[in-house]
Amino acid sequence: MSILSINNVSKWFENANGRTEVLKDINLEIAEGEFVAIVGFTGSGKSTLINMIAGLTSPSAGEILLKGKPITGPGHDRSVIFQNYSLLPWLTVYENIMMAVNEVYPTWDNHQKDQHVLSMIEMVNLSHAKSKLPKELSGGMRQRTSVARALSMNPDLLLMDEPLGALDALTRGNLQEEILNIWSKDKKTALLITNDVDEGIFMADRIIPLNPGPNATLGPEFVIDIERPRDKTSLNDNDAYKKLRNGLIEYLMDLGAQNKSGHKEELLLPDIQPNPPKRKFFFRRA
Ligand SMILES: Nc1ncnc2c1ncn2[C@@H]1O[C@H](COP(=O)(O)OP(=O)(O)O)[C@@H](O)[C@H]1O
Ligand SMILES: [Mg+2]
Repeated sequence: MSILSINNVSKWFENANGRTEVLKDINLEIAEGEFVAIVGFTGSGKSTLINMIAGLTSPSAGEILLKGKPITGPGHDRSVIFQNYSLLPWLTVYENIMMAVNEVYPTWDNHQKDQHVLSMIEMVNLSHAKSKLPKELSGGMRQRTSVARALSMNPDLLLMDEPLGALDALTRGNLQEEILNIWSKDKKTALLITNDVDEGIFMADRIIPLNPGPNATLGPEFVIDIERPRDKTSLNDNDAYKKLRNGLIEYLMDLGAQNKSGHKEELLLPDIQPNPPKRKFFFRRA
């Protein structure tokens, strides 16, 4: 059975200038333990989609079911990792995670909470930095803290909205592997939004393009049938990987091209020639 079902979901925003249509007829089933990636262009509605699953905003039409029940708001069964870290700047690494743990496990005693927070910090290799404030951390360390905080709540569904988008390539690669390591230990269901095809193929079981909007829809899924644990260096020589990557990039490039031409109006030029200059006007004085 699917843990998450998105059924005919459309989303539009109403404002003074009228209606902005963002998503149209989105259908998606995610099975328990699956790692799904959605790849799409900026502005196509990826955050809007994940925000609806997180319960931060609701669909304009259709429904989203988590374990068979409609999502009515945010809940502890889902946690989100955002691109911009979203840590509280006045709290340390330890305190940021403890805040989430306090929220989700109010009945635990202090020792139990403390042990849990410390184990999460250790999991993301930040034990040495547990008393640091976000401003004292690199981007990668901040995002590790966000990962630890998200997983400390032991969610059924881990939602990631371009979590590594702001990081340099090296840190990004390392964190992809760390997130996968953690994910493979307890096989949480994960939904990753990314604009990076390689990241999607490296991490996910399935990758689905979000066609550009307005009225963006999901494209055909690409199943990533590559054995885990995956190794970045050997992937480059893997024929299945190469084929998948080419197929996906081709699909996205076609979409990009269609999108551009779709918005361009054909201009009809008048069939006229300029008149030859009449010399007499050139020399006439006013
Ligand atoms: N609250 C809102 N009101 C009006 N339009 C919005 C709102 N939130 C998002 N949008 C519009 O929806 C579209 C998709 O945004 P978003 O989901 O953030 O895209 P992505 O995450 O793929 O870059 C954009 O055109 C954006 O302007
Ligand atoms: Mg976004």
